[in-house]
Amino acid sequence: MNEKDVSSFEEWKKIYKKPEKLDVLSKYFDPNEIEIKSILDIIDFRSKIVLDVGSGTGRLAIPISRIANKVCAIEPQEEMIQYTKEKIDKSDVKNKIEVKKASVENIPYPNDYFDVIICAWVVGHFKDFKRSFSEIKRVLKNGGVLLIIDHKGGDEWEKLSIIENSNFAGVHKERCKRILEEIKDFQDIQTQVVDSIIKFPNLEIAEIIIHNIRGLKAAKYIKKNKILKILNKMLIICAKK
Ligand SMILES: C[S@@+](CC[C@H](N)C(=O)[O-])C[C@H]1O[C@@H](n2cnc3c(N)ncnc32)[C@H](O)[C@@H]1O
Repeated sequence: MNEKDVSSFEEWKKIYKKPEKLDVLSKYFDPNEIEIKSILDIIDFRSKIVLDVGSGTGRLAIPISRIANKVCAIEPQEEMIQYTKEKIDKSDVKNKIEVKKASVENIPYPNDYFDVIICAWVVGHFKDFKRSFSEIKRVLKNGGVLLIIDHKGGDEWEKLSIIENSNFAGVHKERCKRILEEIKDFQDIQTQVVDSIIKFPNLEIAEIIIHNIRGLKAAKYIKKNKILKILNKMLIICAKK
């Protein structure tokens, strides 16, 4: 992980301490639920044991568990874990998800355990890239599938990050290169880009959110240009061990 990524995590940390806010944010970020639809199109989860790395609010783990045999969610942030557990307790999938406090650098499961591993919007937070991918490979069965979702870059979302900090240019592209390097021994590596539109209900909310997760310069740009919609190109990488 490089310095630019660390500082962006510090920004995000504020949100991670408020899981209910992250859930609201997800609705603005993917109002048409294109992401979960794409995931379910790519992977047949029936009878699969799935690991969701950095599960956040359980946003993906919960719908996937309705189809899969079992979903194991790992998440380092205590507030997220409590929030997700409460959500699961009230849901119809109580017995199909287990949530553990853990990071990708030390995955608390045995070798060759999972049929599918999902890493959605989390690779940018990996503190030790090599170790994280070695852990992912360790717990993924031979023939198991790794699905990574990240920012593609070169879109309006990246532009906002660059407005905030010009050093950000190229971060997403570089991360994608590093991911592909780590999984070069996998089979059937497929990458696709799905356009998703971030939509804010009004300018005040847009400004507050962008201020929180990007910074003041980006928020001023949003306000000045009255931006309510932002193109976010989702990069989906899918590969078989
Ligand atoms: C942007 S959120 C994405 C949450 C979820 N995957 C989703 O798509 O809704 C990133 C999550 O990764 C978690 N995280 C940060 N560092 C991590 C690490 N080293 N290992 C596992 N998860 C991590 C954060 O606490 C946060 O919940």
